[in-house]
Amino acid sequence: MKVTVVGAGGNVGSTVALSVAQRDFAKEVVAVDLERKDGDKTFYPSKGRALDQWEASPIHLFDTRIKGTTDYADTAGSDVCVITAGVPRRPGMSRDDLLEINANIVKSVTEQLVKYSPDTIIIVVSNPLDVMVQVAKDASGLPHEKVMGMAGILDTARYRAFIADELNVSPKDIQALLMGGHGDTMVPLPRFTTLSGMPITHFISDERLEEIVNRAKKGGGEIVGLMGTSAWYAPGAAAAQMVEAILLDQNRIFPVCAYIDGQYGIDDLYIGVPVKLGKGGIKEVIEVELTKEENDLLKQSADAVRGTLNDFKKLMNK
Ligand code: NAI
Ligand code: 2OP
Repeated sequence: MKVTVVGAGGNVGSTVALSVAQRDFAKEVVAVDLERKDGDKTFYPSKGRALDQWEASPIHLFDTRIKGTTDYADTAGSDVCVITAGVPRRPGMSRDDLLEINANIVKSVTEQLVKYSPDTIIIVVSNPLDVMVQVAKDASGLPHEKVMGMAGILDTARYRAFIADELNVSPKDIQALLMGGHGDTMVPLPRFTTLSGMPITHFISDERLEEIVNRAKKGGGEIVGLMGTSAWYAPGAAAAQMVEAILLDQNRIFPVCAYIDGQYGIDDLYIGVPVKLGKGGIKEVIEVELTKEENDLLKQSADAVRGTLNDFKKLMNK
């Protein structure tokens, strides 16, 4: 099994590459990035990071070869490609500010990936996520089930981690579902949140849970505020979990940015919904019954994603 990660000289991409390698199911991870000029010097971040990671293999005990490159020919025959190329969020910058720059990057990266791997599966991480997935879909010509985005696993992980802190329990025992776009309108669903199967509302007051939900919604911004750039450990691990689910045909149920057309009353849009992930990509979009209030929040989130998508279309036609 061959996995390509583009943007792998950067923070999220290099974390995806290492997380995939540490899971030790793939034969090879190809780590792609641009070369970087600094005066008369040229640097190769993806080659440097890949070499450093491979040198950790005897310690971490993995066999997956990690190859750093700037040449897309090395990606030929990839089963899954993860796109993290782009510009990260800086303080004061919204995800949507990244729109035009990252759309051009994601488009050109996708075209080069499918040139060498015409049947690949693409997982987009670059922001603004939901729109970048549509950009990759359009640029790739691949079917919807093979083009998706990573956000829900990360957003849900943040929510689960905060609840684990609150209750002083293992994060492993918190299960949760979150839907909607990867932005301030994302929709955590306390009704579907449990501690080892027991409703979370039994353990946390509604007011406190709402505070935790709000913190999870702003989880990306909290990290940006602390570090001056956006997160990478949890995002990288989340993307690697998706790669594993697909390549090992695990049929995992994850919140993923997937294409829906009619489900949840939403037409023709990439947005976060629960899916079954396995061989071939998205096997099924899972539709659970939502209350009117939950449905309204999801619709608001879909409207926000569609608004960004329309801004993007206007930008491209200007
Ligand atoms: P970074 O700046 O550390 O890495 C980005 C890398 O992309 C750089 O190494 C850069 O050289 C590379 N790159 C830029 N243009 C390229 C091109 N045309 N071809 C190949 N490589 C190219 O940024 P970081 O922190 O890794 O974030 C990457 C993206 O992921 C950002 O858009 C960020 O907003 C997004 N992100 C999304 C998350 C999600 O939940 N979906 C979570 C965290 C970050
Ligand atoms: C995050 O949620 C910025 O999307 C990125 O950390």
